[in-house]
Amino acid sequence: MESGKNPEQSGFGTPDIPESRNRPRQQTLVLAGVILAFSLVYFVLLYVALHFVRSSALSTIGIVFVSYIAWRNGAVAGLALVALNHLWTSTAFLILAPEFTRSYPPEAIISILVHVGVALLLGYFGRLAADLRKEIEVRKMAEASLMLLQNELEQRVETRTRELDKVNEFLTQARKMEAIGHLAGSIAHDFNNYLNIILGYSALLVKKLEPNSPPRDWAINVEKAAATAAELTSQLLAFSRKKKFPVRPVNLNTLIEELIPLLSSAVKHSITISHVADAQLPEFYGGVDQIKSALLNLGLNARDAMKNGGALTISTKTVDVTEAYCRKHGLTCPTGTFASVSVADTGTGIEPEAFKHLFEPFFTTKDEGKGTGMGLAAVFGIAQNHHGAVFAETELGSGTTFTMLFPVKMLETPA
Ligand SMILES: Nc1ncnc2c1ncn2[C@@H]1O[C@H](COP(=O)(O)OP(=O)(O)O)[C@@H](O)[C@H]1O
Ligand SMILES: [Mg+2]
Repeated sequence: MESGKNPEQSGFGTPDIPESRNRPRQQTLVLAGVILAFSLVYFVLLYVALHFVRSSALSTIGIVFVSYIAWRNGAVAGLALVALNHLWTSTAFLILAPEFTRSYPPEAIISILVHVGVALLLGYFGRLAADLRKEIEVRKMAEASLMLLQNELEQRVETRTRELDKVNEFLTQARKMEAIGHLAGSIAHDFNNYLNIILGYSALLVKKLEPNSPPRDWAINVEKAAATAAELTSQLLAFSRKKKFPVRPVNLNTLIEELIPLLSSAVKHSITISHVADAQLPEFYGGVDQIKSALLNLGLNARDAMKNGGALTISTKTVDVTEAYCRKHGLTCPTGTFASVSVADTGTGIEPEAFKHLFEPFFTTKDEGKGTGMGLAAVFGIAQNHHGAVFAETELGSGTTFTMLFPVKMLETPA
């Protein structure tokens, strides 16, 4: 007996046949099994239907099924199902109830016709419904993309409007400054002439009057007041660009080095001053004294903003001024290469409301007698005189940076 023997060792059975050759045979067997089982179930169902269920019920089930297939997959699929159904039923009847086939009942023909009609009708309406569904979907998609486009458009309009508003604001501000400049300039010009007369005569009086006499002290006070007023008018003239000044090549770094000792003597020890220089900074033609006085104004403002000490940094840089740069900082100057000087502090920062009026003449937040509000107006005028620009960046509690830009395109004298 070989009962205990391994089939692989015996030389018989499947293990000798390669597995890949074995698979199609198995699949065919499975398919045959399924067809057999399906036929059996179908025959049993039909038998049950023929003997226990009324034929109208059977027909209803068939119609529902054909309707569903025709509606979902079209008339052709519905008709194919009717044909298949008829084929199966005829075969089944031949086997199960041959007496039916001999006398083909008219209701069977009617049933087939109804099935065919239902398949055609529902196939047609199913196609219509599918087309409608597709159209609705396409419309929905179109609506969604339209909505998306509309949103994008609205956003673009909003951005453009905001940009336009900003440009309009800059233009209004520029026009306002120009108008104030004209007015201030003509007044300052006349004032300057009168003040020169007052200064001249008071100096003469001081010289002629008895030393240590009260009239001489009065004359000294007049001279001092006239000098202060002259300083103010000088700043007004700088703002209105009416002040004539000599021009020569300006090296901003050298100018700052000359300014720092003066600035150091004016600030407390708790403020550290540093100079970050761009060694490659190009020179340009300008008024050295004007620029010095502008930077001094910025330095003194920085000092005033750092009551408890801090850092004052003056840095120079070569800047490529583009349209985007102008838009960002609200400038109306031309584009190109500029020498820039920034005065940055770590002080209080500036409130938004004050920020809007910074460069206007006589705008000050300082106490009476402490600020004239002419410093930044003069800085503005000096920048304009050089065909340059000035702008501020600030953060409350962190500090402020003022940047002056001077064009270096040509070493030409400013108008
Ligand atoms: N670095 C700064 N930090 C904070 N505020 C500043 C700074 N520079 C200027 N300001 C504000 O701008 C105002 C105008 O400055 P300015 O024109 O120099 O006039 P003044 O110094 O006489 O007030 C100041 O009163 C102050 O409120
Ligand atoms: Mg000032």
